[in-house]
Amino acid sequence: MKSIEETETPPIPAAPIPPPEQLPFFQYLRATSDSTLAGYHYGMYEDWIVKIPHLGPNHFLINDPAGIKRVLIDNAKNYVKGEMEQRVSAMGIEDSVVEIADESWRTRRSAMTPLFDYRSIPQYAPIISDACQRMLRTWHSLPRGESIEISATMLRLTSQVIAQILFASEYEGIAEAMQTISHRYRSEPMIDLVDFIPVLNRLRRLYRRRQGRRMFNHMASAIDQAIAVRSRTRKAEDGAKVDSLLTLNDPKTGSPMTPEELRSYVITIFTAGHETVAQALAWTLYLLSQHPEQESKLHREVDTVLAGRAPDFTDLERLPYTRMVIEEALRLYPPFHMLAWREALADDEVCGQSIPKGATISVVPWILHRHRKLWDDPERFDPERFHPSQSASRPRLAYLPFGVGPRVCIGASFAMTQTTMILATIAQHYRLRLVPGHKVEPQGRLILRAKYGLPMIPEPR
Ligand code: HEM
Repeated sequence: MKSIEETETPPIPAAPIPPPEQLPFFQYLRATSDSTLAGYHYGMYEDWIVKIPHLGPNHFLINDPAGIKRVLIDNAKNYVKGEMEQRVSAMGIEDSVVEIADESWRTRRSAMTPLFDYRSIPQYAPIISDACQRMLRTWHSLPRGESIEISATMLRLTSQVIAQILFASEYEGIAEAMQTISHRYRSEPMIDLVDFIPVLNRLRRLYRRRQGRRMFNHMASAIDQAIAVRSRTRKAEDGAKVDSLLTLNDPKTGSPMTPEELRSYVITIFTAGHETVAQALAWTLYLLSQHPEQESKLHREVDTVLAGRAPDFTDLERLPYTRMVIEEALRLYPPFHMLAWREALADDEVCGQSIPKGATISVVPWILHRHRKLWDDPERFDPERFHPSQSASRPRLAYLPFGVGPRVCIGASFAMTQTTMILATIAQHYRLRLVPGHKVEPQGRLILRAKYGLPMIPEPR
């Protein structure tokens, strides 16, 4: 007879056990100051609208896809990024497009969108492929059995890809500055007691701004240097994308973009686009290491389709299972695990619930993607959920790794291209094994990550 450990049931991917009911206020704060996920109680995973009294007199968590549509699409103008969302998303990053709530957001968004639309993405495939091959060469020279921290490895890879796209060069200084910023994200809680004491909160915001500015000076000087070099040595044929930003004019005044504006675009693209992709890949590799059946299926697909050569853009449509694996990893571990925290400008009604002016609404992919009424056996890792025959019967807004509505991620297609190509390349050559006995614990900070890291051993296939 088999022991419990030997049964064929695949392990449940790491997740905190939800408390049976809403935690008392101070216990809630203590738990959430380490990880937001720790404050989500059982009922939140099966109710459509949940009032969270700890977060204000009128704070609602919305899980109902129809309600999400009302807040983020149909009546999106009524729901703005409030102070709290700006506080949690900013962490001192001034002027990032992700953060700003005023009209300049629209101008900035439309300036950046063409860089990541469907016409631009195929040009990036060779850059992704080269960066991956370079990474694999370093893996080939690792002593057998040596582990690597996979999130940090993916962070380096994705920052190299973005630097190459923007500047046609890797600029090590930028990658280093990004590591410092990621470290800061990691150490900041999303909610803690100070958020509820207005005077202290205001003081802390000032302090954070100052601290953030200092940290960003480092990043800014690396970026300014890269822009200056680029302005002097611009070559149309290398296709560096920062050139199209350098030649943009302000649509209102017609004057060229200021160096500060240009820098803030570049910072937005780096901060929004590299850690998210890196964490998505790290969680995907962790999940595969725990699910040999799905891992073998992935290997079969990449071996058959690619027959040993590196993937290029045209291969992507022939790698549906690779894509499904990533989609399922983004369901279980959405990098933006807490999508929206919006403030109502006027009274509204959402799915029969009256929403008074000033109320706050949150939409939390971590909960939505594990909601018991939206997903069968939600804790299970099952890429087949994203087979078109299965996803067709699911409400579209049950799955929001990239958000929805006017603020939807502008890098979603690029992110899927990048993750699919990187995963296919790694899977061709390696299977990654989690270091035995290592504790995996997802931690909800600004971006979802593994609290104790993900040390993994690349085993040549
Ligand atoms: C797996 C990777 C990614 C995930 C999960 C992700 C997720 C998201 C989400 C959920 C939002 C909406 C935030 C909100 O509603 O406030 C967002 C916004 C944004 N994303 Fe992504 N993203 C990813 C990759 C990228 C990449 C690669 C880029 C660009 C290189 C990018 C650029 C942006 C920008 C500029 C915004 C702000 C849009 C706005 O506020 O109008 N993202 N992302």
